[in-house]
Amino acid sequence: MITCDIGFARKFIKDEEYLKARHKADLAFEQLKSKTGPGSEWLGWRDILADPNDAELEQLTSLGEEIRAKADVFVVCGIGGSYLGAKAVIDALTPHFNKKGPEILYAGHHIGGKYLKELLAYLKEPKADGSQKNIYVNVISKSGSTLETALAFRLLRELLEEMYEDAAEHIICTTSKEGGILNKLIDQKGYRKFVIPNDVGGRFSVLTPVGLLPISVAGIDIKTLFYGAVSAYNEFEENAEDILEYAALRNAIHESGKTIDVFATFEPELTSLGGWIQQLLGESEGKEGKGIFPTVATFSTDLHSLGQFIQQGQRSLMETMIIVEKPFSDLKVNKLDGNDDELNYLAGKSFHEINMKAREGTTEAHLEGNVPIVRIAMSVLNAEHIGQLIYFFELLTGIFVYSLGVNPFNQPGVEDYKKAMYRLLGK
Ligand code: PA5
Repeated sequence: MITCDIGFARKFIKDEEYLKARHKADLAFEQLKSKTGPGSEWLGWRDILADPNDAELEQLTSLGEEIRAKADVFVVCGIGGSYLGAKAVIDALTPHFNKKGPEILYAGHHIGGKYLKELLAYLKEPKADGSQKNIYVNVISKSGSTLETALAFRLLRELLEEMYEDAAEHIICTTSKEGGILNKLIDQKGYRKFVIPNDVGGRFSVLTPVGLLPISVAGIDIKTLFYGAVSAYNEFEENAEDILEYAALRNAIHESGKTIDVFATFEPELTSLGGWIQQLLGESEGKEGKGIFPTVATFSTDLHSLGQFIQQGQRSLMETMIIVEKPFSDLKVNKLDGNDDELNYLAGKSFHEINMKAREGTTEAHLEGNVPIVRIAMSVLNAEHIGQLIYFFELLTGIFVYSLGVNPFNQPGVEDYKKAMYRLLGK
């Protein structure tokens, strides 16, 4: 299970401030449970865990296996909540190098022409034996009309139509039940389709086909992932003390004037998970002049870029460390004859042990620099724990943002940029 330790941050907040924030967090959880808060029509991310759709999990597992067996490349075409969750889980749970199964690539998450041009050229390029690559595209868009995704999908389907007679077989669409341009294309071309439930918003959708199909194609056991989240749901319905404490503390820290929360990990494979948390919280809390700006750091790498600021810059920061207690696989430092690099004092130690000392040292230093630190830990990195962590952060987001008095489930500011861009493009 996931543990949350607010001890290092709690001493920065006076008791009365904490208790006031805790009262708000308790009320916020009640609003979520009773579906009485603003945006309560978007609480499907809780309902899917209360009543799992095993038939869909089975279908996604077998399609994932089928594509995994056939494809050379699987392109996930989506932006924001339509791809960040899948990328977070895939990066966390698959090897850094020499991955088995299809290469998973991303498109539709920006409007970079150079990237897309190079992607198309790469997809077209034959394999070493001269044969054509077998490419599958999963286009994911709840609205079915997001420009970045729609533009990339136009190019990708043109390419697939040029390459294969049965191009429609290579395209899977994940979108709303009805409406949107993507649904029109599905009807016209006969693409396979998965539905994003209406009451699940993009950034809360990783445990729907949005995230589960790409994750399954990556060879990850989606049933274990999903049921990890179900176990967290059941546990927190009974006792959400850890999350309520964290939400209350974050609120009190927000009230005290801190404006930035650095989500830091010491495991490079969790960097994308930080990106998913960043979007989940950022798009949910950053409204009406409120919220703590969530940002992501991977240590010790970023201690050599952001470490100085965190230690001694403007005191506007808190830090949330995402911790893995036991290594998945590890490496030891050998003793070297001659000790010419003077590293023999580390001989016999594992990289995990050294990394943990870096974490302890960083914690000590940042506390001295007056940075409140929250620690979220999983014992080992596996699908079950990542599933639990996903629900942990979804619930935290719902409770924390409700306790700010804000609707967590809309994103009016994002609509503003789209309107301005479409006007400038003459749509
Ligand atoms: O969380 C959200 O709602 C957004 O980040 C969306 O996921 C993102 O804007 C993509 O939207 P769509 O799936 O409609 O293309």
